[in-house]
Amino acid sequence: MKALITSGGKGTRLRPLTHTQNKHLIPIANKPILHYAIETVAEAGIKEIGIVTNSDCSEVPDAIGDGSRWGLRITYIPQEAPLGLAHVVKISEDFIGADKFVFYLGDNMVVGGIKRFVQEFERDHVNCYLTLSRVKDPERFGVPEIKNDRIVSIEEKPKLPKSKFAVAGIYIYDQNIFKAVNNIKPSQRGELEISDAHQYLIDHSYQIGYSEITGWWKDTGKPIDLLEANRLVLEHLSPHVLGSVDSNSYITGNVIIGKDAKIVNSHIRGPVIIGSETIIENSYIGPFTSIHNSCRIKNSEIEFSIILNNCEILDINGRIESSLLGTDVQLVKANAKPVTHRFIIGDQSRVELV
Ligand code: G1P
Repeated sequence: MKALITSGGKGTRLRPLTHTQNKHLIPIANKPILHYAIETVAEAGIKEIGIVTNSDCSEVPDAIGDGSRWGLRITYIPQEAPLGLAHVVKISEDFIGADKFVFYLGDNMVVGGIKRFVQEFERDHVNCYLTLSRVKDPERFGVPEIKNDRIVSIEEKPKLPKSKFAVAGIYIYDQNIFKAVNNIKPSQRGELEISDAHQYLIDHSYQIGYSEITGWWKDTGKPIDLLEANRLVLEHLSPHVLGSVDSNSYITGNVIIGKDAKIVNSHIRGPVIIGSETIIENSYIGPFTSIHNSCRIKNSEIEFSIILNNCEILDINGRIESSLLGTDVQLVKANAKPVTHRFIIGDQSRVELV
């Protein structure tokens, strides 16, 4: 069995972070989102992965490499234009060859892995296996209609959803999916929809298996999704301290402190991860916070946030919360007179002040 993982798209809802970085490389708990997809697939015993990229993208291959660090073989498949998920499958036919495969949307995160789904797919000899998740807003997803424990139809982003389930971004297929993606027509938005490929399989009497994912996380499309994914991942991390913690500091709960990090006169209340060479001084870092490498935080309080590489947060009044800071961001107290708010903020940033 092989795997096909997506890493394309523009990540518009995650701007400004995605102006300078592919969304799939944004770290959650200090590890790029795409690593979770690769590791989840590897854990299911798959050794050969195709990653579909935007055609002008060298960032993903540069960051991920040939897969040898995971003991895998990774092939990159460029998609010339964002023509839909069924199009991603279509252009990957040569790579997949005669194999069965897992199709994994690289911005989806799943707690508990996918091994069980792969086993059920094999055991039940179905042609297509879908994973479903109960959601509050099914109209944002592919939605199955289920009758007598069988999926009888699937609609993409329906106005009137026929169930409370979303089809999650983890699918398992045999060769018949290529008949489907080669026969469907583009939707109104001009894309080959994966839901239309599934409907094709249903219409042509192929066997569709499914299972509900409990405790999963949907695609990391918006800033709040990243913070929630970060919360979920941090909850499952085991603590370890490599850096130094002085005798005036308190560490409570699950906390990871990276190599050469320094915690000075501070309170870290886990779950928290702090990257290597980061210095935290006279500060409070509260639950569900990820601070990446080489940051400096002094006289400040941060909770439920993601802070990327090389940020400086110095002498900030009031607790910073539910925040996402990109790399090299400086958040500092105004010292020069007159004492005013002064901003140098890139396009599509958002600042909320009290
Ligand atoms: C895509 C699929 C949709 C599926 C979802 C899962 O939607 O088209 O059927 O439910 O992924 O993440 P998108 O995230 O591209 O809007």
